[in-house]
Amino acid sequence: MSQYSADPAPHSALATVAAAHRDWWRHAVIYQVYPRSFADGDGDGMGDLQGVRSRLPYLRDLGVDAVWLSPFYASPQADAGYDVADYRAVDPMFGTLLDADALVRDAHALGLRIIVDLVPNHSSDQHEWFKRALAEGPGSPLRDRYHFRPGKGEDGELPPNDWESIFGGPAWTRVPDGEWYLHLFAPEQPDFNWDHPAVGDEFRSILRFWLDIGVDGFRVDVAHGLVKAEGLPDLGGRDQLKLLGNDVMPFFDQDGVHAIYRQWRTILDEYSGDRIFVAEAWTPTIERTAHYVRPDELHQAFNFQYLSSAWDAAELREVIARTLDAMRPVGAPATWVLSNHDVTRHATRFANPPGLGTQIRTAGDRALGLRRARAATLLMLALPGSAYLYQGEELGLPDVVDLPDEVRQDPAYFRGAGQDGFRDGCRVPIPWTRDGSSYGFGGGGSWLPQPPEWGGLSVQAQTGTPGSTLELYRAALAVRRAQADLGAGESVEWLKAPDGVLAFRRGEFVCVANTTGESVTTPAHGRLLLASDEIAETGGEAKLPADTTVWWTTAGA
Ligand code: GLC
Repeated sequence: MSQYSADPAPHSALATVAAAHRDWWRHAVIYQVYPRSFADGDGDGMGDLQGVRSRLPYLRDLGVDAVWLSPFYASPQADAGYDVADYRAVDPMFGTLLDADALVRDAHALGLRIIVDLVPNHSSDQHEWFKRALAEGPGSPLRDRYHFRPGKGEDGELPPNDWESIFGGPAWTRVPDGEWYLHLFAPEQPDFNWDHPAVGDEFRSILRFWLDIGVDGFRVDVAHGLVKAEGLPDLGGRDQLKLLGNDVMPFFDQDGVHAIYRQWRTILDEYSGDRIFVAEAWTPTIERTAHYVRPDELHQAFNFQYLSSAWDAAELREVIARTLDAMRPVGAPATWVLSNHDVTRHATRFANPPGLGTQIRTAGDRALGLRRARAATLLMLALPGSAYLYQGEELGLPDVVDLPDEVRQDPAYFRGAGQDGFRDGCRVPIPWTRDGSSYGFGGGGSWLPQPPEWGGLSVQAQTGTPGSTLELYRAALAVRRAQADLGAGESVEWLKAPDGVLAFRRGEFVCVANTTGESVTTPAHGRLLLASDEIAETGGEAKLPADTTVWWTTAGA
């Protein structure tokens, strides 16, 4: 049989889908659109909402359930829109509120759900509150909505504490009147003070604003950061870079954040339509991540432990088992993710030796990276729970590692923390067609230059091409949909496998992933559904090439 013969269940209108699949999010595949780089409707070189609307049928045909859009709100773009000046307005660069409304309606008509990004940890320094706080000077009540403090030292010339910005440099900036304000990210992103009641009121109102427009949920940016430890205590000489991600910090993963999410959950639950929150919460352990998805809090949280794992069977098995164990007690679905707009694409991570982290500056062995990326995706899509895809991974796009300095826009690059700042490489606009000035991204150029070989990786070039990465994704999502339970459930049954090979059963479905650089022979487990590379089957055995994942079913075999 052909690798691609699975028969996708057709999408029906959202109402029918909703009725048939309450709790759709427990097994959903959610596709991240990074609006500035997805599709450019007006030809100015920058993606926009009209562009996204025009490509919704592509996403429906790809077979995803929902689309998460990174921020498109009014913003000076100091951090590509994660610096929001007005949470209820669309930036003219992306379109209008009417475009957002139309996008939600178009998506629903196609049976797709829309999740928008909510940025509650900080605003832009151009937000009305912050501008007034600055203009009114020390003592202004607006300053209490942020973290303003006098400095230390004789003349207040030293920052109020020793915290560093995630983008490098001190987490404090001094304003002309002498006070300092806290920004865990860029200076243009002042942190809100969530102890102030006006902040909570405002965000509850913003939630309702977008829920009333009809969005199906929110991705909560820096969900682990809203509450800071009482008194903003110093780290006291501990190395912040080493602590980040390994320890609870005075500014990250404080227990106080959970009260906020319990309140938000009651708002969401007032609305019909099975809407969700997904947390971007970088916590030291998956067990702490599970706190964010207790039954009365958020629905999902990204699994960054999974994203950070090497292409290695033992490591993957460990993180998969640990994730499922951590989520089971709180009744939340596991989530899986390999790429997003903040990390080097997995095709490039896996092209490089392990241990380099998630910000990689070298292309590595591209062919190897792509083989592993395809195998890793099939493994991810075979796991119980919900999976997140990042635009362009279905084309097997690598990171662009040689962008000239003058086109870079990542604020972390300019603040030079040394470990960061190369996020532009995964944000290069998508190639849709073989030719054309921006390979079909739009009528004009593209805000980051696309490599010349990207025409060959375009949607047009890969559509209908047997063995292409795009067709592999389409087939995988079709099988996932047809095998109704593939995302459901909360456990896997591990099968015995040679070193470097991961094998598990889920009912009639079997997945085997060979993470080694050698071919391996394993039992064939019934009827072949899909494989990330050609495999040879003889006499009940299958020979899997290096870095290959296979799906079988014992149903009807
Ligand atoms: C999140 C976003 C990232 C942004 C940061 C600050 O981590 O994913 O892109 O820079 O928050 O808002």
